[in-house]
Amino acid sequence: MNYKIIIINGPNLNLLGEREQSQYGSITFNELKENCIKKSKELDLAVDFKQSNIEGEIVNIIQESRKNYDGIIINAAAFTHTSVAIRDALSIFKKPIIELHISNIYKREEFRHKSLISDIVTGGIFGLGAEGYILAIISMQKLLLNEN
Ligand code: DQA
Repeated sequence: MNYKIIIINGPNLNLLGEREQSQYGSITFNELKENCIKKSKELDLAVDFKQSNIEGEIVNIIQESRKNYDGIIINAAAFTHTSVAIRDALSIFKKPIIELHISNIYKREEFRHKSLISDIVTGGIFGLGAEGYILAIISMQKLLLNEN
């Protein structure tokens, strides 16, 4: 099979474990990364796990992904609510995209209720904690194998 996926993380997610544990739990960014790599291996998916605090860098990563990956899982973090540039870059990616949020953005401040990417992605997961990443990997495998 040999599908290749990329998991893209936006700003401040590098500080998981330290930031707002009531929203994001105690898992560290490195633990999350290791869990994702382990699950992907189990499912025979090659995975790259990236994080950036810089909007333009995320746009570049998404653009590059067109050539190198079969699917994108993205937690755009705060850029979810603000970035037309990330939305536009994702629109150009013609393969499956899963939007992910650790917290339930609809239970939080009103400015988080609007996602600029929800209507252009394949599907989304929110409010299920860091476990959402594992669920996203499982769903991505099914999307790629057409088993969804
Ligand atoms: C987040 C939710 C966003 O509103 C927030 O800015 C984040 C993380 C989440 O994973 O729950 O940084 O995307």
